[in-house]
Amino acid sequence: MSERVVSGVQQEGDSQVDYTLRPKSLKDYIGQYKIVENLKISIAAAKQRSEPLDHTLLYGPPGLGKTTLSTILANEMESPIKITSGPAIERAGDMVSILTRLRKGEILFIDEIHRLNRTVEEILYSAMEDFVVSWMIDKGLKARSMNLPIQPFTLIGATTRYGMVSSPLRDRFGSVFRLNFYDNKSMEMIVKRSATITNIESEIEGIIEIAKRSRGTPRIANRLLRRVRDYAQVKANNKISKIVAQEALTKLEVDEIGLDNNDRLLLMSIIEKFKGGPVGIDTIATSISEEAETIEDVYEPYLIQMGFLERTKKGRLVTERAYVHLDITPPKKNTTDQATLF
Ligand SMILES: Nc1ncnc2c1ncn2[C@@H]1O[C@H](COP(=O)(O)OP(=O)(O)O)[C@@H](O)[C@H]1O
Ligand SMILES: [Mg+2]
Repeated sequence: MSERVVSGVQQEGDSQVDYTLRPKSLKDYIGQYKIVENLKISIAAAKQRSEPLDHTLLYGPPGLGKTTLSTILANEMESPIKITSGPAIERAGDMVSILTRLRKGEILFIDEIHRLNRTVEEILYSAMEDFVVSWMIDKGLKARSMNLPIQPFTLIGATTRYGMVSSPLRDRFGSVFRLNFYDNKSMEMIVKRSATITNIESEIEGIIEIAKRSRGTPRIANRLLRRVRDYAQVKANNKISKIVAQEALTKLEVDEIGLDNNDRLLLMSIIEKFKGGPVGIDTIATSISEEAETIEDVYEPYLIQMGFLERTKKGRLVTERAYVHLDITPPKKNTTDQATLF
């Protein structure tokens, strides 16, 4: 699964590329226009007041630019940034030590913030609200709590799972932004930009072909671009044309809208084993030997966005659109069946 070429999750070969291709300022950040507009205003206002930026929560599927935005915010605010993640902060003491070391105006970026454990998270509440950490010293009868003032700072949290961020934590963010899949135009601009930066010779039709198959996700686009470049190098004189992109991506079994065999397997098993659904996520997970969490984070968001899958109260349902894409005749809707049930 981690090797899926169309997964938005960072893979081994990505980190170096992610770093070089990561836009450094808001003006280089393509797409997500509403978020960018809002952030520009927040940045200008904070600068005018000489205050740190509001605490900001970014959420959305992997690979859409959450980490990138956080580093851009630090650049734009000319602030240092400390980068960590939910699972990396194991004890309350670790959190206290991070918070008390922050410099004035520093940005603390916590990736996968939904995975903070409760005691660690609770330290954050007063830190975010009043720039104070409450800390128990001594044990037993001598135990008392101490309030340590800390420097004003900005917390930026990122998560793929908004629903798993506790509400007391959520409520303490001044701004909350949901990143969406990028539209085609933005994806084309992103692929073009990456090709230019990495000196890849390409025709616009080749770029469009890669953009179309990248599931609205910049990280996937950059990865596919790399794979197509390799193919072009070996087979086509280094030049990415439409045909070369199509051939390379077909070899990788990524279809013309970015679905791969795993997506097709998921849809097919709901269709074949569960008559198209509705069927519960855990049942699907078992039937394709995949973790439910991976299905929810990686497979589903794009399938739902494409209108191939619906989340209903009774479970997941494959839509008629998916049948059409897979070239399968959809079952006839049997309304009398439904009626006789009641
Ligand atoms: N708006 C954007 N414009 C151009 N490239 C982007 C944009 N957003 C993300 N990227 C590219 O995609 C890669 C993955 O983005 P990242 O911020 O690491 O995603 P996330 O943290 O949401 O998983 C980045 O390294 C960058 O190269
Ligand atoms: Mg990230």
